[in-house]
Amino acid sequence: MTASHVDLNTPAYVKHPRLIAWVAEMAALCKPARVHWCDGSQQEYDALCQQLVDAGTFKKLNPAKRPGSFLAWSDPSDVARVEDRTFICSEKKEDAGPTNNWVAPAEMRATLAPLFDGCMRGRTMYVIPFSMGPLGSPIAHIGVELSDSAYVAVNMKLMTRMGRSALDVLGERGEFVPCVHTVGAPLADGEKDQTAWPCNPDVKYIVHYPETREIWSYGSGYGGNALLGKKCFALRIASKMGKDQGWLAEHMLILGVQNPQGKKYHVAAAFPSACGKTNFSMLVPPKGFEGWQVTTIGDDIAWIKPGADGKLYAINPEAGYFGVAPGTNMLTNPNCMASLHENVIFTNVAFTDDGDVWWEGMEKDQGDQLPAHLIDWQGKDWTPEDGKAGRKAAHPNARFTVAATHNPALDAAWDDPKGVAIDAFIFGGRRSTTVPLVTEARNWQEGVYMAATMGSETTAAAFGQQGVVRRDPFAMLPFCGYNMADYFGHWLQLGAQLQAQGARLPAIYCVNWFRKDEQGRFVWPGYGENMRVLAWIIDRLEGRASGQPTLFGTAPQYAEINWNGLDFTPEQFRTVTRIDPAAWAEEFKLHDELFAKLAHGLPQALKDTKAAMQQRLQDTPAQG
Ligand code: GTP
Ligand code: SPV
Ligand code: MN
Repeated sequence: MTASHVDLNTPAYVKHPRLIAWVAEMAALCKPARVHWCDGSQQEYDALCQQLVDAGTFKKLNPAKRPGSFLAWSDPSDVARVEDRTFICSEKKEDAGPTNNWVAPAEMRATLAPLFDGCMRGRTMYVIPFSMGPLGSPIAHIGVELSDSAYVAVNMKLMTRMGRSALDVLGERGEFVPCVHTVGAPLADGEKDQTAWPCNPDVKYIVHYPETREIWSYGSGYGGNALLGKKCFALRIASKMGKDQGWLAEHMLILGVQNPQGKKYHVAAAFPSACGKTNFSMLVPPKGFEGWQVTTIGDDIAWIKPGADGKLYAINPEAGYFGVAPGTNMLTNPNCMASLHENVIFTNVAFTDDGDVWWEGMEKDQGDQLPAHLIDWQGKDWTPEDGKAGRKAAHPNARFTVAATHNPALDAAWDDPKGVAIDAFIFGGRRSTTVPLVTEARNWQEGVYMAATMGSETTAAAFGQQGVVRRDPFAMLPFCGYNMADYFGHWLQLGAQLQAQGARLPAIYCVNWFRKDEQGRFVWPGYGENMRVLAWIIDRLEGRASGQPTLFGTAPQYAEINWNGLDFTPEQFRTVTRIDPAAWAEEFKLHDELFAKLAHGLPQALKDTKAAMQQRLQDTPAQG
């Protein structure tokens, strides 16, 4: 079939000549059987979900248990982001930097052209216009994804402002980021899918051209590989746009926190994938924190632009949550559980005998009772015996997709085009040793150093080995669309520029909820109890807590934390806050390794900060 045979079906309301021409060009290349422009309506969503049910991709969940909800199981080869197949194709290699896979654009285009030629044969090409950020917000940007996956189309409906409304914002000549996605499994004439999750088990490419702002994704239907508004656009391409235009695109949740005096602050916090952003953004203040209120603006990504007043204004570019299911329960994240009652898409969780979903961690809400029988995420029978043998019923990177409006803790300003002014940044990795519970950077530069040198144990959110500590600067290692050393420079420069304008910069904090004791158990209770650290941060902003100096910033004294309602001894506090000079001497060697890798273009200020910290380490008397 050739392009001339495909009806582009362009609706009359589409008024953007460049968009229409691009869709025609891509249809000619990908050769789909049909083209469907998504209008974003509820009828369209329902029809596509029904189509996915008919195709076997979706199971409709029991409407008495989980109304309007569906379960999808992916191909076992397609369960997470593929970092080793992710490419930043800038003209010059040094512009991608040593932390990204790089291929020259011309070479990558030559590789992709034959792959995309006819890649959508036998399938529908969905044209999916979307706004990242509140419609018409000066901080928002528009993208259009072409995809041959109906699963992608319905997920984009929940995750973004998708459809005709985004095209209205685009008008006749607005800018958009073109995103092309295919599962990479063309069908011959009359051929039907052999599997419910078409993908290409052998060939995957997640490709970004930062200079021309294009995204091309081949072979995967899962998460950040396929929902191109999320990591590909809102982080990799947007980080480069931010560098060029003077703003920030970050792997950060955004929350509002109001103290009992009624004063409200906004905090943006970066944690690597599957390290607690969703949890922290929906935090329920524990007993002892009556009068405090935490509200969610975003759970994964923040776009932050400086305002005329010198403050940093943040929006959540997304409109939904694509969150980790395992570990989520009424104890760890009640607001999240409350968001999941209806109209949810679940991917790779287990299916119960009464037509509901289950994942590891849910037993905590059922008196530690495991279900007697389940169908696991690979469609196999599962009993508690299998669990004992270590076979998980849900994949560790199983996820839910749900609109943000389901969240009972949603902040009133979550959809405000102006965004919210950020008062503090938090950076946190998953570290079983070395890094203390919380410290405050003495200044912007030290904060940038803390964020830049952050390490974290790898998780199931990315394909590959789990649990090894790697440097994950700003939680952006897999998501920075340009040279990481230049990214550090961008943060430093933005801070210097705002300071020169006379602005008070947000304070910067480093946290670690994940320290373990000798038995390998978490010492800090985490989850809602993280409120105690958040409240200390607010106390610092208000000048109520003096803290104490350490080599790695200012730390709380035991008495400065509100311990109401929690039994946590000074000895336990010491276990999570102690700075071990020997461990830090080793830690600095890892910082050295990172800086050696990023030597080209590494800002001098970071080397100076490191020298000052190491001097403080030398001056630290040995601790018993
Ligand atoms: P992405 O969506 O992958 O970017 O991840 P995220 O940062 O939003 O991760 P999420 O909130 O889904 O984190 C899930 C994992 O972190 C689960 O394994 C949780 O049990 C764990 N987690 C979250 N908060 C805490 C905490 O305070 N303490 C401990 N020990 N674990 C936590
Ligand atoms: C992450 O891995 O950080 C995610 C999930 O938020 S995904 O959208 O698949 O990248
Ligand atoms: Mn993420």
